Amino acid sequence: MIRQLLVAALVGVALSAPSNKIDESLARTLQTKGVASAVVIFNQGTSDVIRSVNSMRFENRGQKITTLKTNLEALAKTTQKNVVSILNTKNVKYDAYWISNQVFVKEASYDLVKAIAALPEVAEVREEKIVYIEEPIQGDAEINAEWGIEKIQAEAAWALPGGNNGQGVVVSSIDTGVRATHESLRNNFRSSKGWFDPYTRTATPTDNNGHGTHTMGTIAGSGGIGVAPGAQWISCRGCSTSSCTENALNACGEFITCPTDANGSGADCSQAPNVCSNSWGGGQGDNWYNPIVSAWRAADIVPVFAQGNSGPSCGTANSPGDSDLVIGVGATTANDGIASFSSLGPALSGAIKPDVSAPGQNVRSAWHTGDSAFNTISGTSMACPHVAGLTALLLSRNPNLTYDQVRDLLKDNTARDLGNAATCGGTPPTEFPNNVFGFGRIDARASLAAAINGF
Ligand SMILES: *[C@@H]1O[C@H](CO)[C@@H](O)[C@H](O)[C@H]1NC(C)=O
Ligand SMILES: *[C@@H]1O[C@H](CO)[C@@H](O)[C@H](O)[C@H]1NC(C)=O
Repeated sequence: MIRQLLVAALVGVALSAPSNKIDESLARTLQTKGVASAVVIFNQGTSDVIRSVNSMRFENRGQKITTLKTNLEALAKTTQKNVVSILNTKNVKYDAYWISNQVFVKEASYDLVKAIAALPEVAEVREEKIVYIEEPIQGDAEINAEWGIEKIQAEAAWALPGGNNGQGVVVSSIDTGVRATHESLRNNFRSSKGWFDPYTRTATPTDNNGHGTHTMGTIAGSGGIGVAPGAQWISCRGCSTSSCTENALNACGEFITCPTDANGSGADCSQAPNVCSNSWGGGQGDNWYNPIVSAWRAADIVPVFAQGNSGPSCGTANSPGDSDLVIGVGATTANDGIASFSSLGPALSGAIKPDVSAPGQNVRSAWHTGDSAFNTISGTSMACPHVAGLTALLLSRNPNLTYDQVRDLLKDNTARDLGNAATCGGTPPTEFPNNVFGFGRIDARASLAAAINGF
């Protein structure tokens, strides 16, 4: 024990030397390019504030999220004070976030990074990450149009006695944007505090890629493409085209927690969505987005992530979908096999991933090229929004369901392996949960029926 304490003390001393607080890859970029996009991480994280807000009682969710934001802002103001005063004396652009208690500096010089790293409250300065949308694979348009909606029995769920198609729920996505004028999506966009674009602050939703229009179509599109067409949707453009900067994903993390007008003002936490669908990611065992999903969990926003298109080898689950704090989604085929591209578990942490699976091969949905345009594409990106849509049906039935209750209800499914899937992490794909399908391919009818009977 004494030895451990001694080691910890020595490490503490080492960490306070500024050079050791500057991440090696950032140092390399600074040496070769002179400037870099840097992220300042403080010793004081957000978990104490989140824990304290979770232990308080509130009259409603809006009040809870407002308190969460107020207390995180107070924390940020105190911890970030010295860094911000250094930055204000320099001619640099920076963004300070309460959601993660981090500061993002654009074109930081080595001298500036050294000055920041020398502050005792700074834990680390590292390079800003860039992640990507789970790049879709062009599908085969010959298949039965909306097979995924049929496969998970969404329409049967809507028609259950006590069933619903998502009314009263607000769904959200962080993606490439949405073509909000699309015939499948124009009637249920929540235009008030429903859109934020950290890149160019566009006033209304746009999508230059198609990916974000497609995923939102699967969550909440009308005309047969969406699982929860009765829900309202909002979205944040975390990904400019196919790449998503860590800075924008932090800005979107704040918008999802406490939505604002498109110009970034007028925050109203009572307008927070109930679920957030995320079809992007990269790397493994990389927990950089955990502060944001922890805040969402405290705000009763269910985080759903694509597991990644890095299959078919075992141990290919991508971050943030491999985090214990989120529902990670794998992709199935029309025959209920696992799609060859679908990332498999276990996670680097040893956790079983994906958590569940959903249709992800040859999925037809809305496209960004026209108000009546559709496209058929494949990826875990396409599976994830099926689970976000089902989450909306469950929360429409009972808005008081906790994250754990939602996750439990998603297990009521009929997914069965066809026999040729891999065994990963020691659990064969015929036993559930496993590292190929998780708890299996979702079944909206079975899950909603369980919610109706059980709550
Ligand atoms: C931001 O947008 C809202 C809604 O359009 C508007 O009412 C408000 O005046 C704008 N605020 C600023 C600071 O531009
Ligand atoms: C949800 O909780 C609120 C406040 O406790 C309660 O008034 C309401 O009836 C609950 N709704 C359901 C569907 O259980």
